[in-house]
Amino acid sequence: MSVMQPRHAASPPRAAVYALPIGLLVTALASLWALAAPGGIPGPAEAAALVPPAAASVQELPAIEIESAPVVDACADPAVSAALAAGNDSAVIASFGGAESFRASVVAGAAPCIALDDPTHVWVVVNKVRRLSPENYAPASVASSGLTATSRSGAARRDVASALAELASSAADAGAGRIGVNNAYRSYTVQVRTYGQHVRDQGTASADTVSARPGHSEHQTGLAADIIACARSCTDIHSFAGTPQSDWVAQHAWEHGFIVRYEDGHTATTGYVAEPWHVRYIGKELAEAYHAGGFHTLEEFFGLPAAPDYVG
Ligand code: DAL
Ligand code: ZN
Repeated sequence: MSVMQPRHAASPPRAAVYALPIGLLVTALASLWALAAPGGIPGPAEAAALVPPAAASVQELPAIEIESAPVVDACADPAVSAALAAGNDSAVIASFGGAESFRASVVAGAAPCIALDDPTHVWVVVNKVRRLSPENYAPASVASSGLTATSRSGAARRDVASALAELASSAADAGAGRIGVNNAYRSYTVQVRTYGQHVRDQGTASADTVSARPGHSEHQTGLAADIIACARSCTDIHSFAGTPQSDWVAQHAWEHGFIVRYEDGHTATTGYVAEPWHVRYIGKELAEAYHAGGFHTLEEFFGLPAAPDYVG
């Protein structure tokens, strides 16, 4: 991968801070005042009493913030607007100077044109506190990945479907075995049924740790897939952990633009127990930055609040 120079290095808001030599100023003024005081020029002892200790004053005075430089708006770059208008997420990220620069700009609040709640982009973040808008959003089209599917919800957004096929082929080439798909795109209506079934089976509190409420599922964006391990036949999602396929996916999914979205040990941030089978497409550029940065949740990647539970 080529190394690109950041075009919008998102340095944190810089504050020019100056500690004024106020102690020295006070010393000089005190001396002048002493000279002008009734009684004329003081003697050495009186002068010493009038002059405050300069060095201590300089060190103890607080720094005074006199200027804050505004954060650069990366979206002012015509290359960014053009890529956004073209609907080309890879080009948008490139116009920021690469994925890490893109991420840092978003986190710093320097990319107001990047909406993390827009489900048409690979950078969308959907969780318990970030409901899809519109709530019944559906991708423009979905396509089959060509993998063995064990439900009628095996299709995904077209770019995601081909990335999924590439991931599965790479896993097979590496000797990790065959990968199939259980659920990928689930419509709002299917999510109503899926979540409702969990609630009936295990109650609301428990259902909320394994299934998203309608309007809150990544599956509804067409960017997520629940993958499964297959040999002669395919097993189910709950048999995925510990398989060679699962181990391979945990290490290599990023190379194909995916992250394992709900990792073990991060329930306090995601709101869900571990789902090693649930992969989320964020594109190759962002997935590489996610991997390189050692991130474990999309919330941390984009500097968003944790989403352990629904609000209201
Ligand atoms: N199982 C995941 C959290 C979903 O329902 O989207
Ligand atoms: Zn899932």
